[in-house]
Amino acid sequence: MDNRPIGVFDSGLGGLTTVKELRRLLPNEKIIYFGDTGRVPYGSRSRETIAKYARQDIGLLLSFDVKMIVCACGTVSSVLGDGSGENLPVPFVGVLIPAAQAACALSLGSKIGVIGTTATIRSGEFGRIIRSIRPDARVFGNACPLLVPIVENGLLSKDNPIAAEAVRMYLEPLKNENIDTLVLGCTHYPLLYDVINAYLDYEVTLIDAGHEAARWVRSSLVSGDMLCDPQQTGDCQFYVSDTIDGFVQVAELFLGDTISQQVHRVDVDTL
Ligand code: DGL
Repeated sequence: MDNRPIGVFDSGLGGLTTVKELRRLLPNEKIIYFGDTGRVPYGSRSRETIAKYARQDIGLLLSFDVKMIVCACGTVSSVLGDGSGENLPVPFVGVLIPAAQAACALSLGSKIGVIGTTATIRSGEFGRIIRSIRPDARVFGNACPLLVPIVENGLLSKDNPIAAEAVRMYLEPLKNENIDTLVLGCTHYPLLYDVINAYLDYEVTLIDAGHEAARWVRSSLVSGDMLCDPQQTGDCQFYVSDTIDGFVQVAELFLGDTISQQVHRVDVDTL
């Protein structure tokens, strides 16, 4: 048994989709979430900058004595790669392997699409891992840089013309390839689930990378005998690097819950 909190980080708000799923799957666990809202987006930055920010984010979570670190960011997971936890004192999970495994397990025709930020698609990591699990897979990637600001501005309905047009623009080439499975390789994209599903005529299996990471966390904690005391009361403390007000408004959209009591501000210059 291990009553220490689970540490989760993202470049901003997207990782809250993972937190929501973790709270559903593991309601007794304590969670520390860091969203680097002062430096988001990571997805348009260089590998070096993303790796530096990720090291600082991980260092912050370790200072809270967490028992596991969850990188709920497609961009960081892709840039750091799947061996990134090797030198850490606690288990580390990103979204790459959980999402790739789910896509490979569920794809019927081996035609798998991957969407993510520019840095994620440029890294080619999702494709590499998918092909290592399923060598017959054909992987079609597309970077979707406008989807993050669309989500952050709350344009989430399939009837919203801006969201619908952006999704059409990015997914048309993948639809033309007749993909049967699509990895939502950025933790912001599940909020556009309805828009994406409608554009793909409800015929493509959508893989939510953040949710798959949350399921992976649960099975790792179970197999490592690291679950908390079942009598413990679950709780989530949020840390952000920009204003608390700005975070709370959109975070409540992601989480479907009110959170203002538990949000703290961090100065990234001290990380
Ligand atoms: N949360 C990031 C991801 O999953 C997207 C936002 C960003 O570009 O930093 O890739």
